[in-house]
Parts: sequence; structure tokens; C-alpha cells
Amino acid sequence: MTDAKRRAGEQAMQYVEDGMVVGVGTGSTVAYFIQALARRRDRIAGAVSSSESSSTLLRAAGIEVLDLNAHGPLPLYVDGADECDPSRCLIKGGGAALTREKIIAEASTCFVCVIDAAKRVEVLGRFALPIEVIPMARSLVARAVLDGTGGQPVWRQGTTTDNGNWILDVHGLSIIDPVALERELNQIPGVVSVGLFARRPADVVIVG
Ligand code: A5P
Repeated sequence: MTDAKRRAGEQAMQYVEDGMVVGVGTGSTVAYFIQALARRRDRIAGAVSSSESSSTLLRAAGIEVLDLNAHGPLPLYVDGADECDPSRCLIKGGGAALTREKIIAEASTCFVCVIDAAKRVEVLGRFALPIEVIPMARSLVARAVLDGTGGQPVWRQGTTTDNGNWILDVHGLSIIDPVALERELNQIPGVVSVGLFARRPADVVIVG
């Protein structure tokens, strides 16, 4: 698995062009991409990061971390996923970084998703769907998710996101229409973002 993640991360380098500001996701596969990017650090303009953990890795690799407000839109975003269906719709957020990941994906022209083969599924939902919620809305959102989808929301206790919020992981879903479910869940007050990347799926998927 580690080799597959390394291969996927390194293969994403083919999309990096000189002078680019590169959007960088979060997770163990992206960590290999950051290692590869570090070898070309003098030829890129910097990176926009999706998490504090990736920012730490980027800075340690000598890559400048830039502000999306000043440098967006971006030509390229490279990130991992927890599941990927045949339409390149994704479940993300296993690392609790879904909100900033979704912002950067939206701000990018090309979203390259790097995964190992175990992440490929026919129907999304085997991996519990993460939802970032405002802390005071945790119970409200959990009840609405249970009533609306039949999925079982579980509070990821002990995890606070980089934005100061909490995560619900929704188990037991079989996501036949990811675009519709993403839209429905986004309507619940207190939901910050949903780890379904369907309205804006990946453009390219590299399976290591
Ligand atoms: C982070 O919140 C996630 O969206 C990651 O992109 C996802 O969990 C993939 O992580 P790995 O590359 O570590 O499997």
C-alpha cells in the first residue's frame, strides 16, 4: 500500500509545470507528493495548503506556503481521497481536512486525485462519510442526517478541525446519487462542509 501511495504521489508530478502555484491536499499519499515536489521547489512559485499538517510538511521541505486569496484561482490541485467511484466522485475527510480541501478543489482548474487501488469502489459509502459541523449544531445535524438519509452519524470525539469545528462520520450509506446527497446535506444548518466531492469531482485520478 505504501508503495502504491508513493507511486501515485510521484506520478502527479507530471502535472506540475514551472512557475506554478500548486494546490496541495492532505494525507499520507500527498506526503509523497510533497517529497517529490521538494525536489523541484526552485522551479515552482509555492503552494496553497489544505491543512496545518501539510503546511508544516511543505515548510519543512523548503516550499513557501501561500494565501489562496492572493494566489487563486490555481492551475493544479493534488490531493488524496478515501473513496473514488467510476465518475471520479470522492469521499474525503478521513484526515478531517475536508473543508479547506473542498475550497482548494473548487478554486482549481485541474484536480488530480492520487489514490491506491483499495480506494476504488463502484458505489461510495463503505467509508464513513465525514461531515464538518459547527460544534453547537452537532446533535441537530446528527438527527437531521439520521432522519434524512438513514445513515448512522458518529461523533469523531477528540478531533477538532483546523477551523475549530467537529466531525460527524456517517456510517451505513450507499450513495447512489452523490450530487443529490451532497446538495441535501449542505442544506442542514450547522453543516460547514460535506466530505462528498461530487458537484466538483476530480478531473484526473492516478491509481498508484
Ligand atoms: C484528508 O482529510 C483526506 O481527505 C485525505 O485526502 C484522505 O483521507 C486520504 O488520505 P491518505 O492519502 O492518507 O489515504
